[in-house]
Amino acid sequence: MRAAVVRQRASLLAAAALLLAAVALPGAAAWTDCSTGPTVFKVSEVELVPTVVKPGDVANFTITAEAAKEVRMGVVQMIVHYAGMPVWTQLDNLCDKTAAGCPVQPGPVQVLYSQLFPAITPPGFYDVTLNGHSITEALFCVKVEFQVVPPGAEQVAEGWAAALKGPAQQQVLSTHRKSLA
Ligand SMILES: *[C@@H]1O[C@H](CO)[C@@H](O)[C@H](O)[C@H]1NC(C)=O
Repeated sequence: MRAAVVRQRASLLAAAALLLAAVALPGAAAWTDCSTGPTVFKVSEVELVPTVVKPGDVANFTITAEAAKEVRMGVVQMIVHYAGMPVWTQLDNLCDKTAAGCPVQPGPVQVLYSQLFPAITPPGFYDVTLNGHSITEALFCVKVEFQVVPPGAEQVAEGWAAALKGPAQQQVLSTHRKSLA
């Protein structure tokens, strides 16, 4: 009985999360500036596409900023937290991640990250911190919070269709039909 109530609550929460996702502005991510002092880049916007990630998706993060001066080289550290715990970290060359490479000229600059969330990614609350540094200075720090939701029924059906072609698939469907009758 209690388990059923918990399940019902969980599905209500999931429905509420989907509703929230549906009304959220497309691409506009919940982000905060995590810099602890002055930075060379002034970040104006962080985009996440898709806004709500499903396991197996590639999520694209785009940071739009204004560089106060030329930057010849730098690194970006990415840290992924799941349910508040660090689960993934990597270090990248800044020059591979800026739209126009290096040196970064003073003025508008975009930092792009494409991150695969493998099919086995557990659903839940995630945040990604992207922390950029040159040799001597802090460039930027942004923290993006988002949710990984379980795949929808449509996706599951597509997965079955791709995995089971021909007679096996038909058998699954006819068994299903019998159980519905
Ligand atoms: C994410 O970025 C990659 C690489 O730039 C691109 O190929 C892909 O189409 C982008 N995906 C979305 C959903 O925008």
